Amino acid sequence: MQTLKTGILKALRTVYDPDLKKDLVSLGMIDDLLITNATISFTIILTTPACPLQEFMKQACIQAIRKEIKKELEIIITTIAKVTSSRPPAAILPEVKNIIAIASGKGGVGKSTVATYVALSLANHGARVGLLDADIFGPSIPTIWNCEREKPAVFKQNGKNFIIPLERHNVKLLSIGFVANSQEAIVWRGPMASAALKQLIQDAYWGVLDYLLIDLPPGTSDIHLTLVQTVTVTGAVVVTTPQKIALIDAIKAIAMFKKEQIQVPILGLVENMSYYFSNKEKIGTPHYIFGKEGGKKLAEQQTIPFLGQIPLLPIICEQGDVGISSNKTIAPFDTIAQILAQQIAVRNAIYQPTEIVKKSY
Ligand SMILES: Nc1ncnc2c1ncn2[C@@H]1O[C@H](COP(=O)(O)OP(=O)(O)O)[C@@H](O)[C@H]1O
Ligand SMILES: [Mg+2]
Repeated sequence: MQTLKTGILKALRTVYDPDLKKDLVSLGMIDDLLITNATISFTIILTTPACPLQEFMKQACIQAIRKEIKKELEIIITTIAKVTSSRPPAAILPEVKNIIAIASGKGGVGKSTVATYVALSLANHGARVGLLDADIFGPSIPTIWNCEREKPAVFKQNGKNFIIPLERHNVKLLSIGFVANSQEAIVWRGPMASAALKQLIQDAYWGVLDYLLIDLPPGTSDIHLTLVQTVTVTGAVVVTTPQKIALIDAIKAIAMFKKEQIQVPILGLVENMSYYFSNKEKIGTPHYIFGKEGGKKLAEQQTIPFLGQIPLLPIICEQGDVGISSNKTIAPFDTIAQILAQQIAVRNAIYQPTEIVKKSY
């Protein structure tokens, strides 16, 4: 059997992960290779359960083995995912593999919406997901997730109180709206808001998470600085609408993350409210009311990955108002979630870990 095994491994060495640009054997992605008289079986260890290349890689493995091995054996491939991390051992949130900031320059462009549906998609793929609402002055996660009147439980460990995030549709949720009177929170001064965010980060018991999404307020505020000074952020996603006024602000947000003292990699840009379909006309004709592909072009100019476009859809607005009632995601968000998960894996493989931003900054 040894020669057969050697042949199979040789074949698998010709299969490359298109993102990481190395072969599956060198990347340690092949496990449990077993050969019987009738079958060849093995597991591909993916870097994310939301990997959009799963089927492609399986087929590439089958083709490579068929080319190398003449014996007609059934090939059984299983996939599992071990989400990678590039977060250095940290005192705060050590069990969270990836922290993803969802940002924009302008308000109302769809950060909370994108954070919500991407979280749902990742969880639907089997990832362990948390969503932290860092919009201290205007938390919208409690409304979108239909848990405005809920209070998270608290437990005590070693004399310290921990907040247990709420859980909806397999996503763990935490918002200032759950723990403070929102009318009070909006009149807080900057330092109080920063302290509140810090407390939400430090005092929450998330458990092991593959992805913690942070829904940020608009702009480039104290809250953003507090975040990068408190935890190592894996990367940021910038959300924009296609019109000039939003793009100008998106550029500012990108510049903030790229700043020498901050250096949080940009994982990609999402263009929201890209177009709409008029009911009166033939379905399928998009109307680019805010201009065409402004976000896509910005991603190209800034050489950052473009994660995708989301049309204006009545269902998004309705669910934003009354709250989501199931784990159903919406098609463009699922594609965006998969491309984002892919970009996180690429980031973890290629770039240095992000460092905590020094307090003096
Ligand atoms: N693609 C879309 N189609 C329809 N409504 C949308 C879309 N994206 C966002 N909205 C709505 O626009 C409003 C602002 O979105 P939100 O996600 O709260 O923005 P932000 O968090 O950036 O302030 C919400 O009412 C939301 O439901
Ligand atoms: Mg928001």
